[in-house]
Amino acid sequence: MIQEAEIDKAIKVLFDEIQFTDEPRGLYDPLRYMIEIGGKRIRPRLCLTTYSLYKDSIGEEILDPAAALEIFHSFTLIHDDIMDRSPLRRKMPTVWVKWSQDTAILSGDVMCIDSYARIAKAPKDVLMPTLELFSKTAAQVCEGQQYDMEFESKGVVPMNDYMNMIGLKTSVLIACAAKMGALIAGAPKEDCDALYEYGYYLGLAFQVQDDYLDAFGNEAVFGKPIGGDILNSKKSWLTVQAMEKADESLKRKISEIMSSKAATASEKAAKINSMMEIYSRLQVAQDAKAEIVSLTGKALSFARKACKDSAYGTMERFAENLIGRQS
Ligand code: IPE
Ligand code: IPE
Ligand code: MG
Ligand code: MG
Ligand code: MG
Repeated sequence: MIQEAEIDKAIKVLFDEIQFTDEPRGLYDPLRYMIEIGGKRIRPRLCLTTYSLYKDSIGEEILDPAAALEIFHSFTLIHDDIMDRSPLRRKMPTVWVKWSQDTAILSGDVMCIDSYARIAKAPKDVLMPTLELFSKTAAQVCEGQQYDMEFESKGVVPMNDYMNMIGLKTSVLIACAAKMGALIAGAPKEDCDALYEYGYYLGLAFQVQDDYLDAFGNEAVFGKPIGGDILNSKKSWLTVQAMEKADESLKRKISEIMSSKAATASEKAAKINSMMEIYSRLQVAQDAKAEIVSLTGKALSFARKACKDSAYGTMERFAENLIGRQS
């Protein structure tokens, strides 16, 4: 097994030394910017972590596929920030705000292509399953993002539909990262599949946490504007849960607030405050925390299937670090 400190170091070196094409700068500078401003890099870290369960040292063959996961993720964020009209990402101006929407579209496109070029460098004996896994995942992320947008204008979204949507937009890439590391390390199929499920449930917990932090986090730490989901009329875990708990008259009030247009700064503040007041009345923050713990428990039950003793400890620490996050 490889030590976690060694994985941290490998991730740092990987992204400090990563090379992208220079010209035209208008196309590649936003790409460099997104990678340089960082982020938690959990997807490549998870990929190296599951790889580490089966290997004693980090081989060259895992580095490009691991980087591909982060580059693909960053591409989805660039496009997501246009779709969510979000001004801030990783504590910095978003690409569409700093450059333009057109630039954000095209730089995002080239990042997606760059990620495929890196996936194509996976070892020959696992190249086909790796490519299939990645392509299926990439399409599913788009499907999830489509549902996320459609839900904005939908009156009521049942919790099951919401969970399916976040499974697609967020979990499958985390699941793909977990499985890819094991696949490239030559792990048995049953382990690869169990680690996929671990990543999937961890991804659900991760998105519920993201929704929680969008309302209850601290902008300086979270690095994204607080209340953005409410302003965008998103069906976040909090609004879906609030709808499930509310009586008929409160349901109508929630729908009214969520469908209201907030143009000025004071209208925006009022919209956020009204929803926050309902969240607190219905105690959905507590429910979200319980849900995160329960989904993480489910993730760990799959890690148990793939991992013995110290390997399980590694996957447990990974999960704990992730759900303890404030950013
Ligand atoms: C943000 O992902 C988008 C979600 C899936 C919630 P991260 O929280 O991993 O973002 P970065 O990469 O650390 O900025
Ligand atoms: C993003 O979900 C999921 C993807 C980018 C695929 P969010 O819209 O909640 O992510 P943030 O909050 O902007 O990071
Ligand atoms: Mg979004
Ligand atoms: Mg967003
Ligand atoms: Mg979010």
